[in-house]
Amino acid sequence: MSNTKARMSCETKATEGSAVAFVHEDNGASYEGDPVIFNCVTYSYDNKTNALEDISLTVERGQYVAIVGGNGSGKSTLGKLVNALYLPDSGTVTVMGLTTSNEDSVFEIRRRAGLVFQNPDDQMITSLVIDDVSFGPENLGLPVETIKERAAQSLHEVGMDGFERRETYNLSGGQKQRVAIAGILAMNPDLIVLDEPGAMLDPRGRRGIIRVSHELNKAGVTVVLITHFMDEALLADRVVVVDHGKIAMDGTPAEVFVQHERLKELQLDEPFAVRLTAALRERGVYVPYTINENKLMEALCL
Ligand SMILES: Nc1ncnc2c1ncn2[C@@H]1O[C@H](COP(=O)(O)OP(=O)(O)OP(=O)(O)O)[C@@H](O)[C@H]1O
Ligand SMILES: [Mg+2]
Repeated sequence: MSNTKARMSCETKATEGSAVAFVHEDNGASYEGDPVIFNCVTYSYDNKTNALEDISLTVERGQYVAIVGGNGSGKSTLGKLVNALYLPDSGTVTVMGLTTSNEDSVFEIRRRAGLVFQNPDDQMITSLVIDDVSFGPENLGLPVETIKERAAQSLHEVGMDGFERRETYNLSGGQKQRVAIAGILAMNPDLIVLDEPGAMLDPRGRRGIIRVSHELNKAGVTVVLITHFMDEALLADRVVVVDHGKIAMDGTPAEVFVQHERLKELQLDEPFAVRLTAALRERGVYVPYTINENKLMEALCL
């Protein structure tokens, strides 16, 4: 599996990433290395049980990473550590070259690394949709025209044109989730962490948000998608499986999802082609595991 940096033991220090400098389009601020580096991070809510334990994980610039894992495995906690909402008990989290535990860096980290919360109610700040989406860019002190443009564009991207004057508390869960995503898009972040953005959306809405996330990624935004949907994880460059606060698997979708037995142990859903392969093998048809339905068909036709 790929990414040796991510699986390094905590006795051996994680190295800095690549030394390509990145210049942010708004203010010219640059940083070297990878956008997210977790170095031996442990975090506990109650000082007894670790929600995350010895996590070393490097997200590379421009990567689209899916984080999957069972309920309570630590996915949302990981997202909140990226955003400096939580600080590690031990180890360090470095985002865009800035350490989250440095108080002076928190504003800059949140400006450049947007987190869309699992529960959109946690993200709604103001009562009107337009005010909510404009809140971030206003805080950046951007010109009024730019704020208006960004807010309109972001609402359009999430399919919420015409909702500008609606009260946020009257929206459905899915609509709130879209507004929350628009609020983050309006910040024009370099990195976006989406915590189960499809959980409250209908299938069409979910596909729309995933499409937007891939478009952003193509435009250079690093994407971390926390999801329970394996079809979404299949489209990522990399899949990280979290289990009981630890990284259980880390690789490309093809590397991770063909491991039928391990996925079963971790009680994770499998892509359709893998489920079908497993069912065929149980009936004595020994086709190789694949995540690709066409490849499975080819193997069956040989
Ligand atoms: N605010 C909190 N206070 C105390 N414990 C918490 C809190 N938030 C999460 N936990 C605990 O930390 C662990 C990790 O939780 P987390 O929310 O990160 O999991 P998750 O993988 O996002 O789960 P889900 O798929 O249900 O969203 C769980 O054991 C959870 O009970
Ligand atoms: Mg969660």
